[in-house]
Amino acid sequence: MKKMHRTSHHSTHHVHHAEHHKPTLWVRWLHFWKKAKRVLSYAVPYKRIVIILLFITAILSLLSLAGPYLVKILLDVIIPQKNLPLLIQLMSLFILIFVIKTLVGIWHSYQTTKLVENMILDVKTELFNHLENLDLSFYHTNKVGDILYRLDEDVYSIDSFIDILVDDFLLNLMTAVFILIICLKLNWRVTLVSLTFFPFYIVAQQYFGNILQKHKKRLVEKVADLLSFLEENISGIKAIKSFALETKKLNEYTSRTKLLIVRNLKMDLLESFSSAVVGVITFIPLLVILWYGGYKVIVGALSVGSLIAIYTYIGKLFGPVSSLGSLNVAIKMTMVSVNRVFEFMDVKSKLIEKKNALPLTNVKGEITFKEVSFHYYKDEPLLQKISFHIQPGQMYGLVGPSGSGKSTVGNLVFRFFDPHEGTVSIDGKNLKDVTLKSIRQHIGIVSQEAILFNMSIKDNIKFGNPNASDPDVVRAAMLANIHDLIMTLPHGYNTVVGERGETLSGGEKQRISIARVILKDPPIIVLDEATSSLDSESEQKIQAALQHITQGRTTLVIAHRLSTVRNADQILVLRNKHIAERGNFESLMKKKGFFYHLYTTQFGESQRARATQQL
Ligand SMILES: Nc1ncnc2c1ncn2[C@@H]1O[C@H](COP(=O)(O)OP(=O)(O)OP(=O)(O)O)[C@@H](O)[C@H]1O
Ligand SMILES: [Mg+2]
Repeated sequence: MKKMHRTSHHSTHHVHHAEHHKPTLWVRWLHFWKKAKRVLSYAVPYKRIVIILLFITAILSLLSLAGPYLVKILLDVIIPQKNLPLLIQLMSLFILIFVIKTLVGIWHSYQTTKLVENMILDVKTELFNHLENLDLSFYHTNKVGDILYRLDEDVYSIDSFIDILVDDFLLNLMTAVFILIICLKLNWRVTLVSLTFFPFYIVAQQYFGNILQKHKKRLVEKVADLLSFLEENISGIKAIKSFALETKKLNEYTSRTKLLIVRNLKMDLLESFSSAVVGVITFIPLLVILWYGGYKVIVGALSVGSLIAIYTYIGKLFGPVSSLGSLNVAIKMTMVSVNRVFEFMDVKSKLIEKKNALPLTNVKGEITFKEVSFHYYKDEPLLQKISFHIQPGQMYGLVGPSGSGKSTVGNLVFRFFDPHEGTVSIDGKNLKDVTLKSIRQHIGIVSQEAILFNMSIKDNIKFGNPNASDPDVVRAAMLANIHDLIMTLPHGYNTVVGERGETLSGGEKQRISIARVILKDPPIIVLDEATSSLDSESEQKIQAALQHITQGRTTLVIAHRLSTVRNADQILVLRNKHIAERGNFESLMKKKGFFYHLYTTQFGESQRARATQQL
């Protein structure tokens, strides 16, 4: 519970932090530009496609602007001259332009997709290359599993980002610029006069856009609130019923829904109001063109065709301008995902191995912690100058209160993190000097919350050693005491366990991870006992499975049930950032210190629990 609170607290803290600062527009753009440059750097290898795209985009926007100009020729040249052959030529040109535009459009989207797919592939390759160094973290923390899952989707935000850039930004910008050039050429006075109203349009658009967005965000939050309210109540339905609170909850639900409806209505009103205002502002420049342009035509300073063309072009200018104006919202949304991808890439690069790192070979399994200090957050030291030394083949137990940093010690052995002071070494070699891959190859980890992937049990076990044969898998499962259970499942070893192994109990999942480690057969094992209370049968099965895997290996067992570490060569009691006590079971019991206290309370509790069960 504490852990959950902690992490969520920190993630929200992060968001608030960013909002509190409220950086100036300028700083925000600088920040955005940095990120955008990073995304764009992935386009560098595809310069050719980029240049083609720029070219196609220009053609496309020019072609889309051909219509009004052709009308101008019709009105100013062909009709006064009553020139039928020219009319036919014009029509042919019109058709031709339409055909070319369609074809170029297809080419455009093909090239865009090609660019985007190539870039995404590169990002993914880079990402998964990084993950190679983190591969076993798959089993390690739930959070990483979540992150990975999300990342795969987040990577596709690069798709939207490029789409926005190419389609919304480039095409619209070019179109706007071309319109301006054409109109200024047609008649710069009329154009400039009509343009004076555009700033109002942009301001109004931004203003209402912001308000609408804020409301929408609040609405979405309310809907999410309502959903979590529902979820809470459905999952807690037993409790609600047992306290006869259904009516109360129902009333609460109705009132919340009503509130939502009111908000929805308000939002609708606001939307129609803002589009009305923007509509009026859009109307003014057109009115000005008709009035001022009409006057010019009457005094003979402008042709009818030019007037119609300018009128049409300026009308066409609103679309691109408003798209460009709302670009920043669309980009902000994709940026959240893009940021996540980059953040992930950067976090990992802290653990980058040295250039001259050598692989660990012939590992005997000696683990040394020398004055290790570590913290997740700067002002909250977790471990301070921890030292211990495990000889090859020994079994060490690590116990202590929840949150004292036991799992963290496991993380350090695995080099998921580097200590901030001191060294962690295997066989006397500082982990910072060896390759990450070799560390992970030589350590098996059974994590506190075993992670199973959404695939067959067989494949889940084979994660430990993809080349293992089926009989090997079965043998490992037997040693892990999980074979019998697997045989009772509908498809045996081919049963697909749900996302995160939802269909199995905590103890079963842990035994599958144990089978995984048995199959991997590493010289060092870190076992983080599940915290969730296991029934005593399941517990015994895990105990028995443990016996098999600890033989002849260096094992660090992080235990919650102190009976688990009874046979350990040495037990370390972690408390208040230090190893408070150490020694074997007997000596610690004799000492009557913290361990003794822990053991007697735990033992007392289980005795009491058993007593109540019998009642
Ligand atoms: N990846 C992480 N990032 C930030 N803080 C973390 C992370 N992992 C753990 N912590 C925090 O560090 C502290 C120690 O966590 P750790 O998991 O090592 O404790 P533990 O002794 O294994 O506890 P338990 O007995 O509940 O498993 C906790 O306060 C926890 O919230
Ligand atoms: Mg733990």
